[in-house]
Amino acid sequence: MYRIMFVCLGNICRSPMAEFILKDMVKKAGRENDFYIESSATSDENVWRGVGAPVYGPARVMLQSIGISCEGKRAQVLTEKHGEQFDLFLCMDDANVRNAQRILGAKNAAKCKKLLSYAGESGDVADPWYTRDFSAAYRDIERGLEGLLQTLGAEAD
Ligand code: 4NP
Repeated sequence: MYRIMFVCLGNICRSPMAEFILKDMVKKAGRENDFYIESSATSDENVWRGVGAPVYGPARVMLQSIGISCEGKRAQVLTEKHGEQFDLFLCMDDANVRNAQRILGAKNAAKCKKLLSYAGESGDVADPWYTRDFSAAYRDIERGLEGLLQTLGAEAD
C-alpha cells in the first residue's frame, strides 16, 4: 500500500487535481487497493473555522471535462501528524517542498518530493491560480503521475 499526500499552497487547484486524477488512473489500472490518496495545503487560506473550501471552480470543470468528479473534496491543511500517516508528500513546486518539510519536521523531510521529479524534470507544476491555464497544469500533473506510477509499479515487481 502506497500512502500518498499531494501538497500545494491552497489545496483547491493543483493538489486536488493530482489527487483525483491519480485516483482515476489507479482505478483504471486495477490498482485501487494498492493506494491511499489525499491532498492538502501548506496554508490555511482555504479553511475557515475548520471547514475547508471545495475545489476551485475552473479546476473542477477541468476535471469534469475528462470525466473525473471531485465531489465532496474540501481543503485541508497539512499537519505534523500526517508525517506518520503517509509515505510520500508530492509537492507542486519548490515552495511547497520547503513548507511541507517545515510542517512535517526533519524526520519526515525526505518524504517530500516534487511531483515532476517523477517525470525526470526539475521544474514546477504550472500554477493555474496565476496562469489561469488549467490545461497546462493538467498536462504537467499527468506527466508526473505517469512517471510516479511507473516508478511505484517497478518497485512492486
Ligand atoms: P493551489 O492554488 O495552491 O494550486 O490550490 C492556489 C489557491 C489559492 C491561492 C493560491 C494558489 N490563494 O492565494 O488563495
